[in-house]
Amino acid sequence: MLGRSLLATSLAAAAAQNASCSTVQADSLNPLVLKAEYAVLGRLLDRAKELEEDLAAGKPLPFKRIVKCNIGNPQALGQKPLTFVRQTLSLLMNPALLDMDLGYPADVIERAKAYIAAVPSVGAYSDSQGVKLVRTHVASFIAARDGFPASADDIYLTDGASAGVKALMTLLIRGAHDAVLVPVPQYPLYSATTTILNGTLAPYYLDESASWGVHLDELKRAHADAKAKGATARALVVINPGNPTGQSLPQAAIEAILAFAASEGLLVMADEVYQENVYGDAPKFTSLKKALARLRAKGEAGDADAADLASKAQVISFHSTSKGFIGECGLRGAISNCKTSRPRSEHRSRSLHPSPSAPTSSASLPQGSWSSRPRWENRRGRSTRRSARPSSIRCSRVRSESRRR
Ligand SMILES: Cc1ncc(COP(=O)(O)O)c(C=O)c1O
Repeated sequence: MLGRSLLATSLAAAAAQNASCSTVQADSLNPLVLKAEYAVLGRLLDRAKELEEDLAAGKPLPFKRIVKCNIGNPQALGQKPLTFVRQTLSLLMNPALLDMDLGYPADVIERAKAYIAAVPSVGAYSDSQGVKLVRTHVASFIAARDGFPASADDIYLTDGASAGVKALMTLLIRGAHDAVLVPVPQYPLYSATTTILNGTLAPYYLDESASWGVHLDELKRAHADAKAKGATARALVVINPGNPTGQSLPQAAIEAILAFAASEGLLVMADEVYQENVYGDAPKFTSLKKALARLRAKGEAGDADAADLASKAQVISFHSTSKGFIGECGLRGAISNCKTSRPRSEHRSRSLHPSPSAPTSSASLPQGSWSSRPRWENRRGRSTRRSARPSSIRCSRVRSESRRR
């Protein structure tokens, strides 16, 4: 078994050791969870941990250090946190610090005060859709990124993109007769969640020889395969920029994928958590939401086919504070942006949080700070008297961390 969930592995091991335990038996655990594979947390990582212990015990090995690249965990590899995010968070966690002279820039203090006014306390449950002010900041970020309006009402905050993806798939997959088209190679969140929910996986293969591109013929093949297995494809997962493949799809490809999904009645789950990580001469990142906005604009300009497709298209995109230059995996903040042709009230009434849970404020508020982070050009003359340092936007080390390194 490759990398099933850590909890499932531990419970299975405990159950195997303790046959007298009546509730937790290896064969009484949910078999779907045991079946789900999460290779990035599997045998390779276990081996790395063993080798780390060997190194710590002084065992001679032909290397001195293990660099874990099995999962995108930037700060574990030395990426520095953004001080704007961390300083704001520190004030939210302990508002008494506002009365002290910490030398924080004025915009950090201003932002912290705005969030403190918006939430009773970071220790309180937030709205299940997430703090409205944060969603407003996220919507402004998306509007500026795409050049089309975005609404806070379409934004859902979750504790990590994984939580948003799982919540959405839980809403979608009703059983084995529901299929999800998933790229291969892929980040295993999608295959593992489909397995756990007893859905049908419909893999489509990326073309390595075309920079890991997506071909419409391959999407059609996967769609038809699902049908042949007796399942109806309900969603199409697009990971762009790709993980582990690293490609950024050209705008034309994104538009073609959107048109295919709309014509087949598939919800597009656009995993865009790596949107800041586009390297080399790869095409500039294009969001699926932007592609949908362009399609709508064409329809409004009189293109009847575009209008028809736009009326059928459904896109939910995911972004996360775990990746990019914020890289705050430990804080697990994320956004889901729902763009559907359905009346807004319909999807709003079905929260992405099916159980009475809400995103943690400590994860959501940094999401807001990052989404509407200060820009260099806006910062001139904004420092407080005692903080002449030009900016907290730099990735300078937070003091305690620089001591640790
Ligand atoms: C493609 C992709 N999507 C989603 C995630 C999960 O992100 P989060 O930490 O926000 O749950 C990852 C994590 O590595 C990822 O690589």
